[in-house]
Amino acid sequence: MSNHTFSKRVWLAAPVLAGLGLLAPQLSQTVMAQETVKIGMILPMTGPSSSTGRQQEAAAKLFIQQNGATVAGKKIELIVKDDTGAPDVTKRLAQELIVNDKVSVLLGFGLTPLALSVAPLATQAKVPQIVTAAATAMITEQSPFIVRTSFTLPQASVPMAEWSLKNNIKKVVTLVTDYGPGLDAEKWFSDTITKGGGTVVENLRVPLRNPDFAPFLQRVKDASPDAVFVFVPSGFGAAFMKQFVERGFDKAGIKLIATGDVTDDDLLQEIGDPALGVVNTHHYSASHNSPENKAFVEAFRKANNNMRPNFMAVGAYDGMQLIYKALDKTKGNTDGEALIAAMKGMSWTSVRGPVSIDPDTRDIVQNIYVRKVEKVGTELYNQEFATIEAVKDPFKAAKK
Ligand code: DHB
Repeated sequence: MSNHTFSKRVWLAAPVLAGLGLLAPQLSQTVMAQETVKIGMILPMTGPSSSTGRQQEAAAKLFIQQNGATVAGKKIELIVKDDTGAPDVTKRLAQELIVNDKVSVLLGFGLTPLALSVAPLATQAKVPQIVTAAATAMITEQSPFIVRTSFTLPQASVPMAEWSLKNNIKKVVTLVTDYGPGLDAEKWFSDTITKGGGTVVENLRVPLRNPDFAPFLQRVKDASPDAVFVFVPSGFGAAFMKQFVERGFDKAGIKLIATGDVTDDDLLQEIGDPALGVVNTHHYSASHNSPENKAFVEAFRKANNNMRPNFMAVGAYDGMQLIYKALDKTKGNTDGEALIAAMKGMSWTSVRGPVSIDPDTRDIVQNIYVRKVEKVGTELYNQEFATIEAVKDPFKAAKK
């Protein structure tokens, strides 16, 4: 019997064998592997940044619930892993997701060191790494496979300095968490306000782990500036505000200005009245006035026991949006280079406002809003009162 005849016989016999359950496992596995697109989401679900994990997982799941688990004929499977906020764990999980689970895309990364630990793997495996949280400007430069849907600290901090200059805030102290995003916030706020004729009298840096703000706040008081500009990562704002109030700052005539990470929507109710009047700059507020956002907030609350979405939720929601749009554009092709090419220049109406992916930097271009914490009914919100449109990351723009 020739090979040809043999294979033809097996082929003809296949339905019979499958009917007997002999071929079915292999066949169905092959078909499944071709048709399922796996997305590996790595987040800090435990530890001090667990609110980021909670918000981002909820948003990614809501997106799938609203848009269906099929794109371009492929089934979407989301795999969520907890890295506990430790970079070595993030890296190991990314490796396992790439090698064992054969994910087509990685998503998440709650803190800068966690995003950085995966960049070399994304490059090596040619797997898109969608950064939905971490916000140090240089992250996207660490791999051509990184695309970011969160924001950058220079993007948020420059408008805060510009607003300060226009509002007679000239002498400032900066107080930031001592790692990537804090150093970006410090540099871009300080440089902008100095160029505009202001003075930075001190740059204070607080450790990321177990921060005690009290000694730093004492130094702010001693310097008696017009304002203190603050960045702390999402989830740390309540601890900062508590010590700020305990030291009588709300009555000391020193204004608090910040990036929106401090007056995070996830914590604002917990912070309470001490936050009233704080002016800050950021890309998303749960009270952003658009039909898309109203529908999003309502659906998010409904699906999550009335939890209010914050900017982290929106980073993940848009990360999923970007993956769906890219798969649509490639007609289901999951090749890493094809997906990245599809993502470059992509634009859509986010719940935060209009956004696009800068094709040169793979960073998000978005509006930055100036907001003030106010009471709306019984709840506190960051109420947007001015908009700087289509802001690109200033760090990369400055290099051109
Ligand atoms: C980062 C983390 C945050 O929680 C945040 O609000 C901003 C930046 C970061 O580690 O990059």
